[in-house]
Amino acid sequence: MATEVTPSTGKPEDRVKIFDTTLRDGEQSPGISLNAAEKLEIAQQLSRLGVDVIEAGFPITSPGDFEAVQTIAREVQGPVICALARSSFQDIDAAWNAIKDSERPRIHTFLATSDLHIKYKLQTTREDVKGQVKAAVAHAKSYTDDVEYSPEDGSRSDIDFMAEVIQIAIDEGATTINVPDTTGYAIPEEYAAMFAGLYERVPDLHNVTVSVHCHDDLGLAVANSFAGVMAGCRQVEGAINGIGERAGNTSLEEFIMLLRTRNEAIGGLWTGANTQEIARTSRLVSRMTGYPVQPNKAIIGRNAFAHEAGIHQDGVLKNPQTYEIMEASTVGVTGNNLVLGKHSGRHALQNALQDLGYEISGERLNHAFKAFKEIADRKKEVNAMDLEAIVNDEMRDDSKAWSFDEFELHSASTGQPTATVKMTNPAGEQVEGKGSGNGTIEALFDAINDVVGLKPVLNEYRVQSVTSGPDSIGEVSVIIEIDGREASGQGVATDTVWASGRAYARALTNAERRRGVVSEAESAAKAAVNNPVAP
Ligand code: KIV
Ligand code: ZN
Repeated sequence: MATEVTPSTGKPEDRVKIFDTTLRDGEQSPGISLNAAEKLEIAQQLSRLGVDVIEAGFPITSPGDFEAVQTIAREVQGPVICALARSSFQDIDAAWNAIKDSERPRIHTFLATSDLHIKYKLQTTREDVKGQVKAAVAHAKSYTDDVEYSPEDGSRSDIDFMAEVIQIAIDEGATTINVPDTTGYAIPEEYAAMFAGLYERVPDLHNVTVSVHCHDDLGLAVANSFAGVMAGCRQVEGAINGIGERAGNTSLEEFIMLLRTRNEAIGGLWTGANTQEIARTSRLVSRMTGYPVQPNKAIIGRNAFAHEAGIHQDGVLKNPQTYEIMEASTVGVTGNNLVLGKHSGRHALQNALQDLGYEISGERLNHAFKAFKEIADRKKEVNAMDLEAIVNDEMRDDSKAWSFDEFELHSASTGQPTATVKMTNPAGEQVEGKGSGNGTIEALFDAINDVVGLKPVLNEYRVQSVTSGPDSIGEVSVIIEIDGREASGQGVATDTVWASGRAYARALTNAERRRGVVSEAESAAKAAVNNPVAP
């Protein structure tokens, strides 16, 4: 019987820890590049969601990522703050320096154990891998008690060899062992059997936290993670909205709701997540990353709780349980009654934002208030979803970024649309540009290209409305490509042209940031390859 279980608590041994890697593996998705302020914003929301561990980044890869991890370590209380490192001392030192101010720091070090990776990627031997893992875990342990080790490509590794390496990591003091399905190749029975085999070969695994980390290449990430916890693992790694390398990671919102909704059927496994924060976390991640959520996505898609067929609507009206296995309110999809209008003052806005969980004052409140007034002038009522969209947009750190300041469009039923735009470049100078195109948005983007002197390929352009009604705020997401690399951007406004200009300007800024990050990361990777063994 499909009933919901409340509250979601249970025996301590059945508690599954949620390890969120939205800001590390998730941020590795093509086109995503978050700065420190954006990452902090997401980390604070993850803390409200009640995740146990936040993997905040991979500090050696760029000064920007180091800064973001450090900021999160200093400012976010509650969850363990984790940083990723390869096995080199350089990586581990950078990880430690970034997280050492956290109340609960964790170093996560990884080195592949599959022969494929050892031979072709690492170009080394099994013996060398054992030595590197021993040195890496011992070095990490000299900084903090909380050390996680992952045998990368674990699901395709020779189990006897991987067990030997895991034993070494545990002997050196690793407290969490995470066995990833790095390529998303495993099937649930196989992944569960691998854990059973590991518990048999390494009885010490019963004294540490065993973790799953699954990729979604075959659409099995949640199923494999679930198989892992049924086999005894008690930490699940994943990302909000399932973002991550290639097809992404385990969708944490799906996994959390699976454990909550089917709690009885699965022997009482539970998580400490505050499920009512799920929808908001998902929207924030989508906005900050510019990655929209597909309408039919489980739990968080706009249609996840909608009923289209008449026969379903009829059933739900008679008894919601006929077609609903979860209540929308459990994941925070509710009709919040909060409404402001154009006469509402700064104080009312601040209170409304507080009700929504945002503590905003000073300059940030001024910005939010200005944006709120602009929207309230065009829209009779501003509700909670609108406010959240405005605040998320205004809180973006657009310093050192292209800003989209003014536009003029000319469009008629005959002739080509034309556009002129004024923008401010990252150095603070105003620049004007002109453009034309087959449609108004193409003309607008052409004028922006004229300003920035680039001709990106537009791979994706999407508009959706934040709420319903003709005066709803429009939310635009774009993905552009420059020199084979993608960059995403997102913007909101009552006028979709404004939202489009903002989204495009942010994508350009991300592309520039990303090019900087990629070249820094490439030189860091080269340095680590030249020095792969801990000194
Ligand atoms: O997919 C993977 O193997 C990883 C490791 C770094 C844990 O992301
Ligand atoms: Zn991964």
